[in-house]
Amino acid sequence: MRVLITAGPTYEPLDPVRFIGNHSTGKMGYALAETFAAAGAVVDLISGPTSLPDPASPNIGVQRVQTADEMYAAAAALAPTANIWVFAAAVADYKPAQVAENKIKKAGDTLTLELVKNVDIAAILGKSKRPEQFSVGFALETNNERAHALEKLQRKNFDLVVLNSLRDAGAGFRHDTNKITLLEADGSVTTFELKPKTEVAHDIVQTVLARLSRHA
Ligand code: CTP
Ligand code: CA
Repeated sequence: MRVLITAGPTYEPLDPVRFIGNHSTGKMGYALAETFAAAGAVVDLISGPTSLPDPASPNIGVQRVQTADEMYAAAAALAPTANIWVFAAAVADYKPAQVAENKIKKAGDTLTLELVKNVDIAAILGKSKRPEQFSVGFALETNNERAHALEKLQRKNFDLVVLNSLRDAGAGFRHDTNKITLLEADGSVTTFELKPKTEVAHDIVQTVLARLSRHA
């Protein structure tokens, strides 16, 4: 069993000293890597910049990347041979249209940046997914949560989407706990209590392994 996991944020450079990125500790993706490895899988963890150490398990290979383009290249190379894809990364939706060669100097009272859309790693790989492969996505939503999550499930060809609602106290990127709902392609919905991210990872992995046994 091979599992491909993207984790952490991506940093999109603006100049040699600045970037556009987002809040993501990478904890959820790393916890999933550890949990899949403990269940006997060989894991490829493609991680954006995080302060977390590489997971200790010898069954987890870690590739560190910075940008969405680098994360995509690493994921695309590993996706065909993985049985399970888990897209836990908080990929920057846009990147600067130009990267300045030298540090941008302060000038003027306002600064306007032009951004261009980043590659959608999950959506592009989703188009090449084979029937026996299983894809898991994440959705962090603040409103119309289930509708947005289901739209992503369809658009990105996920078999399962992990919905985090920022409306749930103690959930999301600022916390070590998470409250998730699992939405599946067959319409089934499973809700879980607020728990530590390590236990959330366990719930996700158990569900994925159970589904995989009856999948394709
Ligand atoms: N994702 C990805 N590549 C991107 C953006 C998102 O692989 N460029 C993946 C995330 O890892 C996650 C899922 O797609 O598993 C949903 O991410 P999200 O940011 O919620 O979706 P977006 O399509 O970017 O929509 P939104 O406008 O809500 O940000
Ligand atoms: Ca996004």
